[in-house]
Amino acid sequence: MSSVAIPGIVRCRGVAKSFGSGEAAVPALRGVDLDVVAGELMLLVGPSGCGKTTLLSIIGAMLDRDAGECTVMARDPGQMNPGERAQFRGESLGFIFQGFNLLPTLSAEENVAVPLLIGGTPRRRAGARPRTQVDPVR
Ligand SMILES: Nc1ncnc2c1ncn2[C@@H]1O[C@H](COP(=O)(O)OP(=O)(O)OP(=O)(O)O)[C@@H](O)[C@H]1O
Ligand SMILES: [Mg+2]
Repeated sequence: MSSVAIPGIVRCRGVAKSFGSGEAAVPALRGVDLDVVAGELMLLVGPSGCGKTTLLSIIGAMLDRDAGECTVMARDPGQMNPGERAQFRGESLGFIFQGFNLLPTLSAEENVAVPLLIGGTPRRRAGARPRTQVDPVR
């Protein structure tokens, strides 16, 4: 049987993260391995407090890991400076937060348009984009 190499979008090896220090340290992740390939839909499930948000925050270039390796689209967010991270998040990642983090005075469409405007999309296109149906697996 022949095998086809499918590009890995996310690759984590031995990712560890604790919050706090000393005796008060809370280990959130202890050596997590994860592979996500292009076009794959993956659900991350587990009991409350098992580290789902922590892992997604590391993959999403919002949180530094303590140990292990993690690449997202062949890039390591842990090696980026804050400006590079912000650009990477803005251009390459989509993230719906657990607490939503929406601006309550704006409509749903306006909430979608805000990061586009910050990223330099012209106002007319930023306003139209939320109405565009986009294939989530490109
Ligand atoms: N900023 C933080 N400071 C201290 N401890 C934290 C912090 N964030 C998460 N933790 C702890 O790390 C562990 C993992 O938390 P995390 O939020 O990743 O879990 P989760 O699987 O997303 O839970 P839930 O299903 O409730 O959203 C928990 O013990 C949590 O209390
Ligand atoms: Mg969570």
